[in-house]
Amino acid sequence: MDKLVIHGGRRISGTVAASGSKNSSLPIIAATLLAGKGTFTLHRIPELHDIATFTQLLQHLGVETTFTNNTLKVSTENVQSILAPYELVKKMRASIYVLGPLLARFGEAKVSLPGGCAFGPRPIDLHLMAMEKLGAEIRIETGFITASVKGRKLHGAHIDFPVSSVGATGNALMAAVLAKGVTTISNAAAEPEIETLCHFLSAMGADIKGTGTTELVIEGVETLQAIEFTNVFDRIEAATLLAAAAITGGSITLNGVEPSQLKAVLKKFVHAGCLISTENSSVTLKSPEQLLPTDVTAKPYPSFPTDMQAQWIALMTQASGKSLITDKVYHERFNHIPELNRLGAHIEIKNNQAVVHGPRKLSGTTVMSTDLRASASLVLAGLVAEGVTEVLRVYHLDRGYEKIEMKLNALGAKISREKYKEFS
Ligand code: EPZ
Repeated sequence: MDKLVIHGGRRISGTVAASGSKNSSLPIIAATLLAGKGTFTLHRIPELHDIATFTQLLQHLGVETTFTNNTLKVSTENVQSILAPYELVKKMRASIYVLGPLLARFGEAKVSLPGGCAFGPRPIDLHLMAMEKLGAEIRIETGFITASVKGRKLHGAHIDFPVSSVGATGNALMAAVLAKGVTTISNAAAEPEIETLCHFLSAMGADIKGTGTTELVIEGVETLQAIEFTNVFDRIEAATLLAAAAITGGSITLNGVEPSQLKAVLKKFVHAGCLISTENSSVTLKSPEQLLPTDVTAKPYPSFPTDMQAQWIALMTQASGKSLITDKVYHERFNHIPELNRLGAHIEIKNNQAVVHGPRKLSGTTVMSTDLRASASLVLAGLVAEGVTEVLRVYHLDRGYEKIEMKLNALGAKISREKYKEFS
């Protein structure tokens, strides 16, 4: 197993390019199942464990893929299976994204129920509700979702999501684009990842109105084509790199970003005392002498993203006062807090709210990653902690951050990746 050994106290400064988005890559790759012939060429696909897991799942279905220099080529002409097995689905919940496209193209799908998650229950009831509305018969048996449209095609429907769900919106979109008739989706997720999926599906020949909004109207079409497409940047990686500069008193320029998709995060960095400037595809952050306490409530887009909540808590340990952090998407997404406190932070949890007391001098020690963004928050804390911080189980980090220690070392960090054994 790998750990990151981080020598703290070094400023993170310089210029770096943002990688392609993990969370838009996954539905885009799933959507290739909707085309019956031709080869897709997908650019700016990040080299991540989750992408490898997902392409492994598609290969299991019979899809041919090749991945070189962040370009993924996909041919879905010879899909022979509609079964997504437990061994692969348990590695990554987003495997559920094959449900909609398999149903739309083949009229059936058998997908293992996803496993648990470190930061609380992550139900899939809204995915199943949407598929049933579109005409699928859903059965849950022996740990699998078995879905079929009994020989007919999926048909248009009105889907009204009671809560905003990125995944369920993605699955509903990918099922509706080949359904017979018109589908309307109310309270659709408007995250950039869903907007990008809508652009991708439209480029394939889908008829989608309302892209980028919470009200989508999809007119089903007969067939969809394989295309060449360039993925959007990863807004969570970008925000995490900005936090790395801010927590170490450095300054950073990120290239290849769309500042409009970072609005809520940039606003909070300004509130924390950072100087932010943006060009059309880059953003620059300059740290203040002293970070200011800044409350955050994580909510669906365009609000502050839940996937930046853990990193923000790490940052606020260095702010001069008390910051209140609430997560309205995952109320208990706080596994990073006990580990941050072991580094010397003083963070309390009261009624699903994190109370971060700062500024606190952090001291390096060994800490354990529990999930993707929790591990990112521990890396940020390690960058500012005195001495050496060892972050264990960085396979969590590798799921969502492309070559993160190389990027940070190029910006002045001193991080090495080392093998280690855990006591069994
Ligand atoms: C996506 O997960 C992201 N993952 C998550 O990022 C992100 O945290 C989440 O959206 C919220 O933004 C990918 O895109 C691969 P949801 P998803 O459905 O789609 C409830 C990361 O760090 N809900 O938008 O699974 C759910 O419990 C990962 O990159 C239901 O109740 O999230 C939650 O409270 C972690 N029933 C809320 O909706 C359902 O059927 C939002 O979840 C589905 C969701």
